[in-house]
Amino acid sequence: MTQQRPRVRFVLDDLDVDVPLGTRLIEVVDVAGADVTFGCRNGTCGTCRVRIVEGMNNLSKPTPEERDFLAALEARPDERLGCQFSIHGDVSIDYIGS
Ligand code: FES
Repeated sequence: MTQQRPRVRFVLDDLDVDVPLGTRLIEVVDVAGADVTFGCRNGTCGTCRVRIVEGMNNLSKPTPEERDFLAALEARPDERLGCQFSIHGDVSIDYIGS
């Protein structure tokens, strides 16, 4: 369900942050100080690899480039690059890294 202020749960940090609809995860992490590390910030290094524990359908869809990169990493279907998506509903995130 779409909400005006989705809740982002960072599992590792035991931290919940309510954000404006459409906020990019990278912005949330920068402000909240959650434990997700970014490198390139443009989808080419894999440092920001996260597992979506809940709410995969509440994220912006992956670009073909992100899909290809995750496939090259042999990522599971519940993984995304944290620098590549925005938030459109409640989501729970676990950091994996590269
Ligand atoms: S920070 Fe490099 S892929 Fe996201």
